[in-house]
Order: sequence, then C-alpha cells, then structure tokens
Amino acid sequence: MPQVSKNLFPKIDRFSDLKEHLNTLNLTNDVIADLTHFLQAENLSHRKQYKKNLPSAVNDLIEQIDIERFNWDIPFKPVENPKFTFIDLFAGIGGMRIAFQQLGGKCVFSSEWDKHSQLSYYENFGEMPFGDITEVNEQEVPKHEILVAGFPCQAFSIAGFKGGFKDTRGTLFFDVARILQEKHPDAFFLENVKGLYGHDKGRTLDVILRTLREDLGYYVPDPQIMNARDFGVPQNRERIFIVGFRNKAAANRFSYPKPLGVHTTISDILEDEEVSVKYYLSNQYLRTLVNHRARHEAKGNGFGYEIIPSDGVANAIVVGGMGRERNLVVDDRLSNFVPITHIKGSVNKKGIRKMTPREWARLQGFPDKFKIVVADSHAYKQFGNSVAVPAIQATARNLIRSLEG
Ligand SMILES: C[S@@+](CC[C@H](N)C(=O)[O-])C[C@H]1O[C@@H](n2cnc3c(N)ncnc32)[C@H](O)[C@@H]1O
Repeated sequence: MPQVSKNLFPKIDRFSDLKEHLNTLNLTNDVIADLTHFLQAENLSHRKQYKKNLPSAVNDLIEQIDIERFNWDIPFKPVENPKFTFIDLFAGIGGMRIAFQQLGGKCVFSSEWDKHSQLSYYENFGEMPFGDITEVNEQEVPKHEILVAGFPCQAFSIAGFKGGFKDTRGTLFFDVARILQEKHPDAFFLENVKGLYGHDKGRTLDVILRTLREDLGYYVPDPQIMNARDFGVPQNRERIFIVGFRNKAAANRFSYPKPLGVHTTISDILEDEEVSVKYYLSNQYLRTLVNHRARHEAKGNGFGYEIIPSDGVANAIVVGGMGRERNLVVDDRLSNFVPITHIKGSVNKKGIRKMTPREWARLQGFPDKFKIVVADSHAYKQFGNSVAVPAIQATARNLIRSLEG
C-alpha cells in the first residue's frame, strides 16, 4: 500500500489555500474552529488542547502547513507580539474583536453559534468561532487577560430572580459568569442594550452587578450608557457598557471615555459610487410607508419610516422593527431605473433608497476592509446586532491603560 497521508496535499502557505482544502474535507464548523484556533494560538500554552480534538485527516493536513511562513490573507490578521490576550464571547461578526485587536490584543478563543455570522467571522479573522457557549466547558477555555462579551438581551430573563450567581443559571449571563469564575481574567467588558438599565425596575442589572461584585469579587465601576455618535460615527446608538477589574487600583484608575467632540454626518458614510437599483424603494412601497406613518401619527406615536438628511445622523440600526425604513436616504445618482428584483409598480424618482450593508458597516465604524460575504438580509442582521467599534475601542483603551497602571 502506498503511503497516503503526508504527501496527499501540497505545501499550504496561505489561508485562502487552506480554506479550499478544508472545503474538500466536509468538516463541521467545530472541527474548523479547533483547527483555526490551533493555528492562531502559536506560542500559547493552550495550543495542544485545540490539536487534541482534531480528526486524523486534519492532523495530516496540518503537516502540510508551513506555519512559519503562513500568509494570513484575510482583512484582520492575527496580532503578532500581542500586548494582552482576550476572548470574544457572543462574538457575532467580531465588532468587539476589531476594537481589541486594533489595540494590540490577541484573541485566544471565540464563540458564536449563528452559522452565517460564523462565516463572516471566519472570512475576516481567519478563525471559526466555536458554537453554543452553553455547551463549552469553562475549564477548556484558554487562559486570558480580558473577557469580552456582547451578550444578547436574553439576560432579561433574569427578571424575577432573587439574585446570586447560581440563580442566573439558564441565562446567557450565567455562561459569562461561570467563565469569569473559572478563569478569573484581569478584566472584562460587557455590552448590552440600553434597556437593561431599567429592566424590571432595575432589578435585572442589580442581579448582574451583585453577581459580578459580590459572588465573583470584581471591582465594577457604575455601568455607563454610551452613544456611538459621540465617538465619530453618525449613528444615534445608545448602549450600556459594563467593565470590571480584579484589582481595585486598576478599577479606581478607570474612567469611561468622554465624547470626542467630532461630529460626522450621513454624507460621510454614503457609498462612493451609484448603488444598485435594488436598494431604491418602489413608488407603491413608499406610499405604504407614508400611509403607515400617517396612521401612527394620528394615534399619537411617531414611529415609521424616516428619511435622514445628508447632514443628519442615523437612527440606531436594528434587526427588524422597520430598522431599514427608519434610515432611508436620498441619493439621486441612480441612472438606470429598471428594477432587477420583483417590485410592485415602478422605482421612485425622488432618489429614496435604503442604506446598503456597507453603509451600515460604516455606521458601526467597521473599516472598509471588512469583507461582506453573506447575502444582504444576513448582512443587515449582522451589522444591526453588532457594536459601534469606535465607542468600544475608546472604552477598551481606557480599560487597558487602567490595567497597565
Ligand atoms: C448582540 S449580538 C453580539 C454581536 C457582537 N458583539 C458583534 O460585534 O457582532 C449577540 C450574539 O450572540 C449570539 N448567541 C446567542 N446565543 C448564543 C449561544 N448560546 N452561544 C453562542 N452564541 C450565541 C447571537 O447569535 C448573536 O450573534
């Protein structure tokens, strides 16, 4: 029998080639997660752990990888000579990762269960996140200095709990807490919707803070509501940020960043070229929106579509709930009005269109090198669920400085 394994594949020295090989092997995302975490964990003690789980076909493949000269031909390359390590939980498409990587951090573990978000993450960071965090054993999470989590609003189900860490079992906050308890990183950075502040008359946030402070022993400055527009993007997006430190002196050194005083507008983020006719509204849909708003206004609530002037600031981009219609723009560059999708009636002549996924990316402060690899419907959802990178980064910078002393 000829030897099969070692020379089955040619030398692999770029990520794009590796991806092609992996496609032929029909692997699960969890195996690709182990492999890509292994490859990015160069010089980390946890490396063996990731390798341990790999099937033999993938171990054979690794033999062909020239890790010394490996070219990460992706937009966000692994950080060399990192200043600190972090993990990215509820990672989405990595908005928080971009902020921490840009500050010199190395991500050593990521988790995100949505397949389409995993794909966006993989194509941009060269790392496949692990899936369901509730199934991850906290002992197997690598050692890290900062835990980062944009945990979903599902934490709201904490409502009704009396308090205490054990009581939060069954919520996604519990998964954050059990990793903090096991790994006790130096600091954490949690992000959530503004509504967490007043939820259940403040009791939900109270349970979270008591768990972090009393049960886990972290020093947690009062959480702050931060607005993306104060950090250089034209989007009115308020979110609650919660940071915490193991060390009291570090916590005392920390303060939330002040608004930058730089004001940008929609005109700063619009596409540079004419966009596809598919983003333009049909006359009929526009009429529906106008009627819908009129009905709601008559009832005394102002919700409905909104056209943001070019010198204005966008409403928070969100998933569902008229998210796209609340952020229409006027763009009169369209030259061909022939529809390419099924629309009722004709394309409007006033230049009214939805923003494109790239414009949503810019509203969240994602650099243009971020690759959009999924269909528009997923892209809107992913950017709507993500974070405003500049606000995260300004806060993360202060957090890291506080740790440095
Ligand atoms: C608010 S988004 C966070 C977005 C992220 N910060 C970003 O920059 O894109 C919350 C994410 O948690 C993910 N998620 C929810 N439950 C999860 C679970 N049990 N395991 C892993 N990910 C989960 C969702 O799919 C969603 O992408």
